[in-house]
Amino acid sequence: MEVIEKINEIKMFRLKLTEPVGFVPTMGYLHQGHLSLIRRSRAENLSVVISIFVNPTQFGSGEDFDSYPRDTECDLALLEKEGADVVFMPSAREIYPPQFDSWVVVDKLAQRLEGANRPGHFRGVATVCAKLFNIVKPTRAYFGQKDAQQVAVIKKMISDLNMNLKIITLPTVRESDGLAISSRNSYLNHKERQAATILYRALTLTQKLWSEGERDARRLRQEMTSLLKKEPLAKIDYVSIADRETLSELAQIISPALASLAVKIGSTRLIDNIVLR
Ligand code: PAF
Repeated sequence: MEVIEKINEIKMFRLKLTEPVGFVPTMGYLHQGHLSLIRRSRAENLSVVISIFVNPTQFGSGEDFDSYPRDTECDLALLEKEGADVVFMPSAREIYPPQFDSWVVVDKLAQRLEGANRPGHFRGVATVCAKLFNIVKPTRAYFGQKDAQQVAVIKKMISDLNMNLKIITLPTVRESDGLAISSRNSYLNHKERQAATILYRALTLTQKLWSEGERDARRLRQEMTSLLKKEPLAKIDYVSIADRETLSELAQIISPALASLAVKIGSTRLIDNIVLR
């Protein structure tokens, strides 16, 4: 497995890779969610490229860029075992040299939900993904459904800017009690970890009400909100029942909808979602 830090070197190495090329962009601190993406990429492609880059431009001021968990040694050992062909691990200066001045902005879709709560977040995500796609030129890139809006924004960028790759989305990987696996779970202390199950419990409640025939999106938001309020450590950022594609809030559910939420457990902000269909 090659580990490459420079853009011109990975571009050269890319020329030698056998097509099709699968790509899994990550911010490192790899967990079972990432491994499911890497394994699918391995199964569907003849070459697999992984990037590890904690992208500073997608973190707002006061967010956790400095404290974001990092463990390169462990990540590289895992990737070697999973059969990655090459790991691209650029520095921030390599991706954003001093005169860097071009940004990719997906407009309306990126202003909702996470975008409304984390201004500039998707500008950072879209820009770094566009750069990584241009550098790696993958046939397919793999993302987890846990970051549902990220997937929607990236798909929109690819379609609007005629980028030549396919996005594959894989289901959220969960702990046995339903908590969506995330690098940020490592911030939770024991009590917070127990409290964090409230996110999936709220989504499960919505799923149940929807299966029983409830289509009033306001009622579903209310039910999730009241359940979340029962957990003293939880502070709601948003609770949403939105159109799956546009992410605009629904009154009635008539087509597949995305039930999503962002909740702070102590000082750790967690997100999760399910699709109602
Ligand atoms: O989901 C992530 O880990 C990041 O947002 C991504 C896609 C690697 C871009 O920095």
